[in-house]
Amino acid sequence: MPTPLALGQAPLLAVVIPVLNEQDNIAPLVERLDATLAGTAWEAIFVDDDSTDGTRAAVAAIAARDPRVRLLHRIGRRGLASAFIEGAQASLAPYVAAMDGDLQHDEAVLPRMLAALRDDGYDIAIGSRYVAGGGVGGWDKGRVGMSSLATRLSRMVLRAPVTDPMSGFFMIRRTTFERAVRRLSAMGFKILLDILASLPERPRLIELPYQFRTRLAGESKLDAGVLRDYALLLADKLVGHIVPVRFLLFAAVGAMGIAAHLVVLRLCLSPFGLDFPTAQSLATAAAIVGNFWLNNIFTFRDRRLHGWGFLRGLVTFAAICSVGAAANVSVSSFLFSPTVHTTWWLAGMAGAVMSLVWNYAASSVLTWRRS
Ligand code: GDD
Ligand code: MN
Repeated sequence: MPTPLALGQAPLLAVVIPVLNEQDNIAPLVERLDATLAGTAWEAIFVDDDSTDGTRAAVAAIAARDPRVRLLHRIGRRGLASAFIEGAQASLAPYVAAMDGDLQHDEAVLPRMLAALRDDGYDIAIGSRYVAGGGVGGWDKGRVGMSSLATRLSRMVLRAPVTDPMSGFFMIRRTTFERAVRRLSAMGFKILLDILASLPERPRLIELPYQFRTRLAGESKLDAGVLRDYALLLADKLVGHIVPVRFLLFAAVGAMGIAAHLVVLRLCLSPFGLDFPTAQSLATAAAIVGNFWLNNIFTFRDRRLHGWGFLRGLVTFAAICSVGAAANVSVSSFLFSPTVHTTWWLAGMAGAVMSLVWNYAASSVLTWRRS
C-alpha cells in the first residue's frame, strides 16, 4: 500500500484522528484516506486514549506496512480536544486536519480543504453541516436541538460567528494553529471553537459543506460529561484569563456548603431539639462532607477519587478545611481588632475569602493531586 511519496517526502498534510474504542473503523478509514488523498504526501496520526478494544492493534497492523500511519497512545488522559492538540504537535506537516475516527466525517472534503489553504490562502477550512449542501444526516430532534443551542451559546466567545463552530472536522495551517496553541483551554470536545476563540486575530475562514454520516460501528462518546466540559470551555474563554474556572466551581460548591450548613443547623435545632454546639458541629460536618462529595464529582471530576482514595481524600479535605477555618477566624479577628479596625462585614468577608483560597490551593495539591 505505501506510495513512493511515503518513502521520500515529508508529509504535507497530517490528519489527526482521536480514537476511543473504534477498532472496526480504523482499516476502512485508512483505505478511504489513501484513495481520497492519492498524490498528496499525507500522514495519519491516531491519538488513542487507552482504548479497551482492539483499536491500537488495528492501527499497529496497518502501520507495520504503511509508515504514513502513526499512533499516539495516551494513558490516564481523556478528551477529544487535547488529543487533537497533542496529535498535531507530534507532526511537523504544514497543514493539519482534525477528523473523527468513526467514518462520520466525509473524507472526500479533505482535498478541497487542502486546496483552500494552499492555493486560496485561507487559514482554516471548516467542514460545516449548516451551509448549503451540508447536513446532519440521521440525528434525532434532541441532538439537533442540543447542537443548535450549543452553537448559539458559542457566540458569546466568538468575535465572528461561523455556521458550525461545533464541527470536529476542519483543516488548519500549522502557523495559525501555533498562534493559538498556548492559549487553548484544551477542555472537552470542542477544539475548533477553542482555536477560534483563542486566536489573537481573525483568521481567513472558509466553510465547506459536508454531510454528517451515520455511525455504523462502535458507539458515540457523547454524554453528560461532554456537556459539562462544554460549559467549562465557554466559562474558561469568558473569564479564564481573570480567574481559573476550577476555582469558580470550588467557590460555587462552597456557597452551596453554606446553604447546606444552615439547613442542617436549623433542622438540628428544631425539630430535633439538639443544643447549639452539637447542632453547629453536625452542620459543620455535614457541610464538609457535602462539599467534599460535590467537589469530587464536579470541580475535580477529572481527578475523581474512589474507594479508599475517597475516604483518604475526605480526611485530608476535612483537615484542610479546619486549618482554613482557623485561618479565617484569625485573619478576620485581626482585621476587626481595635488596631486595624475594619468594618465587621469586610473583616468577615476577608476571612472567608482567605480560607476559600487556602482550601482550594491546599486541596488541589493534597486531596485531588494530579496522578
Ligand atoms: N482520543 C480520544 N479521547 N478520542 C475520543 C475521545 C477521547 O476522550 N472521545 C471521543 N473520541 C473519538 C471517537 O472515538 C471518535 O473517533 C471521535 O472522537 C468523535 O467521537 P464521537 O463520540 O463519535 O462524537 P460524536 O459523533 O458524538 O460528535 C461528533 O460531532 C460533533 C459535532 O456535533 C464529533 O465529530 C465531534 O468532533 C463534533 O464536534
Ligand atoms: Mn461520532
